[in-house]
Amino acid sequence: MHKNEGFSSKLGFVLAAAGSAVGLGNIWRFPYLTAKYGGGIFLLTYLILVLTFGYALLIAENAIGRMTRKGPIGAFRELCAGKKSFLGSVRVGGWINAVVPLLILPYYCVIGGWVTKYVFAMMCNPVARFHKDAIESYAGLKMNASAAYFQNFITDPWQAVGFFLLFVVVIVAVAAFGVEKGVERFNKILMPILILLIIAICIYCMFLPNSGAGFRYYLMPDPSKFSYMTVVAAMGQLFFSLSIAMGIMITYGAYMRNEDNLVSSVNQVELFDTGVAFLAGLMIIPSVVAFGGEKAAEQAGVGLVFVTMPQVFASFPGGQFVGAAFFILVLFAAATSAISLLETNVHTISQELKISRAKAIVLNVCEVAVIGVVTILGYSLLSFVQPLNFISRYRGMDILGTLDFISNSVLMPIGAIMTTVLVVGVIGIERICREIRGQNKWYREFVFQFCMCVVVIPCLLIVLLNATGLIG
Ligand code: PHE
Repeated sequence: MHKNEGFSSKLGFVLAAAGSAVGLGNIWRFPYLTAKYGGGIFLLTYLILVLTFGYALLIAENAIGRMTRKGPIGAFRELCAGKKSFLGSVRVGGWINAVVPLLILPYYCVIGGWVTKYVFAMMCNPVARFHKDAIESYAGLKMNASAAYFQNFITDPWQAVGFFLLFVVVIVAVAAFGVEKGVERFNKILMPILILLIIAICIYCMFLPNSGAGFRYYLMPDPSKFSYMTVVAAMGQLFFSLSIAMGIMITYGAYMRNEDNLVSSVNQVELFDTGVAFLAGLMIIPSVVAFGGEKAAEQAGVGLVFVTMPQVFASFPGGQFVGAAFFILVLFAAATSAISLLETNVHTISQELKISRAKAIVLNVCEVAVIGVVTILGYSLLSFVQPLNFISRYRGMDILGTLDFISNSVLMPIGAIMTTVLVVGVIGIERICREIRGQNKWYREFVFQFCMCVVVIPCLLIVLLNATGLIG
């Protein structure tokens, strides 16, 4: 990392961090998980976790970066230097943090390709094609047209690979031309438009017939729907959405100026990210319930946004235009996040293999292309590949689901445990609090200390054991 690289202002940091945090996680992943894991009870669990766990880890990672001015591997290495035995081995945590984005980026680009396809789908088809009552066939079966359209697309290897590559080319082009000027400026304009559009669609959804049941499903927690899996899924989502446990926030902390207020910057990122996810849920879940009942919500999967949103657009005049605008903005949110993943990978690869930035980009792109194509074929030629079939709970999980599960529910908790051990055992809670507090007031210092010292490790261990099928 060069000395003179860095954010020029606090706003620069907040925007870059929010641009990385707000992405497909908020608009694609959060709504389908919420629908699947019981609506309100998932939302409540998620909010509690963000305000405690997520907050503590987010701020800790930024502080680690700012203290060491290094990326994850370097930061862990520096802080653990000279420590013996167990504490010395905590440096492995840096590697775990660095591996996760290498696993996420390929399938993130697969979904990015789906979004790209839907930009065209909205522009090139009469939107009535996606009407909730329209019927089309998929694999000889008659089904809802919007669902069939989605299935036909993801199971067609040529199309899916084509749109995936298009997405990859675009983000690589941006990364190659440098991120600062373009992406940051775009972020400033497009993020507010995305939010306004989501709010407008939410308001429209309030007036759909039957939407009341959907709002109840989303906003009223039903304790009978609570299970271990609610927590496991919410925890994985939290890591994914806040971009934590993968080195990104450590790297961004390293770019931050010493005089900027860490506490308030992190608060803003947290608020922004959670706010967008909440609104996305408010937009999508009532519509699913209105169109298909609670059953449809509980059967939701990765296709939810792609199946339900076109139905919503087909149900009002001018929906075609709104639909195209919506997917363009989602595409943009996805691209900013994908670029931050690519940046982190390129940084790690070039530092650790001591190669140039250009070579590191090429290497990363090759990795993304190979894993991405295999992931896509998981819906067609390779649909028999279900790597986790030996665990009964995950039988039938496809390749994308498996990558998502391993990174979010297994590796990220391990990475987060390592970060916590680093904070409490190696850096020391007093020292990190001083770094974070600086000259400012810090109201949630107690929450931070309590989470770091008492809550995080036992909870993550339980989550981990449960996710791997060892308990629960
Ligand atoms: N947080 C991003 C999202 O919600 C995804 C992401 C993960 C981006 C990790 C960067 C790093 O979509």
